[in-house]
Amino acid sequence: MTVVLTLTPDLATLYAAAFPDEDLVPLLQGLSGQPGTLSLIEGSPPVAHVLFTLGQINGAKVALLGPAAVHPDRQGQGLGSRLIRQGIAHLGETGVAMVLVLGDPAYYGRFGFLPETGAEPPCPIPEDWRPAWQSLVLTQPHRGRLSLPAPWLSQDLWR
Ligand SMILES: CC(C)(COP(=O)(O)OP(=O)(O)OC[C@H]1O[C@@H](n2cnc3c(N)ncnc32)[C@H](O)[C@@H]1OP(=O)(O)O)[C@@H](O)C(=O)NCCC(=O)NCCS
Repeated sequence: MTVVLTLTPDLATLYAAAFPDEDLVPLLQGLSGQPGTLSLIEGSPPVAHVLFTLGQINGAKVALLGPAAVHPDRQGQGLGSRLIRQGIAHLGETGVAMVLVLGDPAYYGRFGFLPETGAEPPCPIPEDWRPAWQSLVLTQPHRGRLSLPAPWLSQDLWR
């Protein structure tokens, strides 16, 4: 398990394949080498990657899940689920109170994520995306705005 994200060319290639219509490399570049990420990789070159970023809500330690990328040739084989579960287990062992995600409830619901209304995302999200803002409480819930490292504070990432 890699803890600090390191953006390699191979990882950028995986993201281009998994997200043909979205460029997440600037976000990954901004977070690369910074403390406060939990980066999980499968394969060399990587075929699956899941990122968690540590943040705070009113001083409580929380984490944001995302992005998650599995190579199209390897999707649906359980790789994404395995890395997400590994990451959540690790965060639970390190005292993270809750994990937040903006993503499809049909996917994230299987890990126990539920719609979240008390914890606010760092940037406004479109009204019809509200059901996609979810949380998984590991110790206790927290209400308030999620504070994250600067690379996450681009409005484009939240709409
Ligand atoms: C979403 C993603 C990370 C899931 O990883 P994966 O390894 O393919 O998924 P798993 O094998 O762990 O789980 C497969 C299950 O998830 C479902 N699933 C996969 N992607 C889904 C999505 N975007 N929405 C809802 N369900 C999804 C599959 O239908 C399958 O369901 P089943 O178990 O009932 O058959 C991967 O498909 C991917 O990289 N997709 C493109 C990029 C993306 O959308 N990333 C997520 C947003 S950050």
